[in-house]
Amino acid sequence: MTLDEIDKGGFQHFMLKEIMEQPESLRNSIRGRIIEEEGDVVLGGLADVVDKLASSKRIIITACGTSWHAGLVGEYMFEQFCRIPTEVEYASEFRYRNPVVEKDDAIFFISQSGETADTLAALREAKLKGAFVLGICNAVGSSIARETNAGVYTHAGPEIGVASTKAFTSQLTVLALITLLIARKKSMSKIDGKQLASELKLIPDKVEEILNLNDQIEKIAEEFKDATNFLYLGRGYNFPVALEGALKLKEISYIHAEGYPAAEMKHGPIALIDENMPVVFIAPKDSTYEKIVSNIQEVKARGGRIIAIITEEDEFLKNLVDYTIKIPHTIRMLMPILSVIPLQLLAYHIAVKKGLNVDQPRNLAKSVTVE
Ligand code: AGP
Repeated sequence: MTLDEIDKGGFQHFMLKEIMEQPESLRNSIRGRIIEEEGDVVLGGLADVVDKLASSKRIIITACGTSWHAGLVGEYMFEQFCRIPTEVEYASEFRYRNPVVEKDDAIFFISQSGETADTLAALREAKLKGAFVLGICNAVGSSIARETNAGVYTHAGPEIGVASTKAFTSQLTVLALITLLIARKKSMSKIDGKQLASELKLIPDKVEEILNLNDQIEKIAEEFKDATNFLYLGRGYNFPVALEGALKLKEISYIHAEGYPAAEMKHGPIALIDENMPVVFIAPKDSTYEKIVSNIQEVKARGGRIIAIITEEDEFLKNLVDYTIKIPHTIRMLMPILSVIPLQLLAYHIAVKKGLNVDQPRNLAKSVTVE
């Protein structure tokens, strides 16, 4: 690592530096990998195995923590565009339950550090069972990167803050690239591939736009820094983002937070709603928007305070919620890369306002190399 990379670059914390670096880290994740005129991608680490990957009967994604959340987004991508049944497993569960692994399975191991003990052990267990194993890592030459049959580096650059931010959005970007690579080997047309590729190339600039909302988000954080509980709700591709937003908040601000699929609220969590339970809704204008609005009305009716991440101004919604954070629109599969950014900043500012050690939260390590 160069001195510049391990320096805070004038930011108060590594975490803020790494949040602000995301337009650049995403450009690095994409650089040289999109063949726009073909609507295709080139991933050197998969060049020899792309046909085997495309003919997989099932994809399993195993990881821990934030990387597991990235895997959940990958599940939606692979099933929507590659039509390959995909399952996501906590590595710590996968390794101990004697999993059924078939020779036509492709198993991805997602890990920023490439050294997480549970993920590495799950990899070794899968290899013992003869599985085709692939890595998505950020740390070059890490154990998981070395022990998999093939893989893709995320190129997010060194991530010092314990709470993962730029590594997560780079993982999502690499999963989108792998999705495009496989889909174009299967039924995705050149035109559709070009549309996806061009949307992906626009993402870093759109992240830049969201980072310009930092001051607005800091003001919102001021209103919620004394909360003792938070609920994050999203649908479809944004359900994993709700989980990730909750994890960011709990791990650096020590506020209890839960993420749920928005529709699950009526199966229990709605009992928690009152004026002391702030709720973050990820509410982009997509096919589930109307459903999200009715979920917001249910929370509003019970006195909940609401922050909504939106992509279009909506006077009706603005009168329902307490705060809106408007982000640019993009296609559904790439929306998590954008919708997570305000949640990273919200968690960061709440933790700073609580005077906590944002870069090294209590009880946490950057890489969990012990069981
Ligand atoms: C994320 O903010 C946490 N630091 C943690 O959940 C982390 O994602 C998890 O330990 C997995 O780490 P890895 O990606 O290096 O395997």
